[in-house]
Amino acid sequence: MTKIIAVSNQKGGVGKTTTTLNLATGLGMEGKKVLLVDLDPQGNATTGSGVEKNEVEATIYEVIMGEADINTVIHASKHHDIIPANQHLAAAELELVSKEQRVNALKNQLQQLQKSYDFILLDCPPSLGLLTLNALTAAKSVIIPMQCEYFALEGLTDLVNTIKRVKQKMNPDIEIEGLLRTIYDSRNTLSKEVSDQLSSYFPNKVYKTIIPRNIRVAEAPSFGKSAIEHDKSSKGAKAYIDLAREIIHIEERRNG
Ligand SMILES: Nc1ncnc2c1ncn2[C@@H]1O[C@H](COP(=O)(O)OP(=O)(O)OP(=O)(O)O)[C@@H](O)[C@H]1O
Ligand SMILES: [Mg+2]
Repeated sequence: MTKIIAVSNQKGGVGKTTTTLNLATGLGMEGKKVLLVDLDPQGNATTGSGVEKNEVEATIYEVIMGEADINTVIHASKHHDIIPANQHLAAAELELVSKEQRVNALKNQLQQLQKSYDFILLDCPPSLGLLTLNALTAAKSVIIPMQCEYFALEGLTDLVNTIKRVKQKMNPDIEIEGLLRTIYDSRNTLSKEVSDQLSSYFPNKVYKTIIPRNIRVAEAPSFGKSAIEHDKSSKGAKAYIDLAREIIHIEERRNG
């Protein structure tokens, strides 16, 4: 069965794209078939997958708008497949408003996939607009990357409420898969405090794996690579490999 996971947090720059990309790579290296869907007009997951976002014929935009067959927009990266996005996708937020299938468009299209995947990862934009609602409607669960800073928990309430609303109205199956501490600085005492609060508010939902702040992770996208492909021995890459294994382990336990 395919597990569709949205990687979402409306707060910008918390490591959504980095997590989606490295998790796709890590799961792929563990032998899983993975499709990454870039749902952000910034197209960073596309670039990080080694695909030139402005040279592709069609993107997730055309798929969502019903103008392209989803099977024709899949590109192969080294360890995962990717459906690209670029700035054209920004128009979808407005154009979807008048469509009857405005929150189901992505879900309907993902059902048309001919190739089977173990995991489909959705890299969400930093907003709770219609693109994110499409992701939450299509997904079985949500990974929430969090930077353990002062306002981190405040923003989390909005996201959790949105997930609850989606669960009531559109997608009864949706669950929080896990909260991931990203760009973590262990020397910062505030990080530790926020991290402890997170674990007490969401018992059993915070991943054991913590992603440290690491220069190799930050520089990898400029090479069109994930951190794991860029420098597998770096602390950041190792953490993302651990995360992939932790997620596979959770999934195996769940499926008995
Ligand atoms: N573990 C890390 N160590 C150092 N830098 C990191 C780490 N993770 C992410 N970064 C850097 O932080 C910035 C934000 O990361 P990223 O783009 O993954 O966040 P995002 O949540 O997807 O952002 P946006 O909200 O704009 O989509 C990027 O420049 C990225 O390279
Ligand atoms: Mg991003």
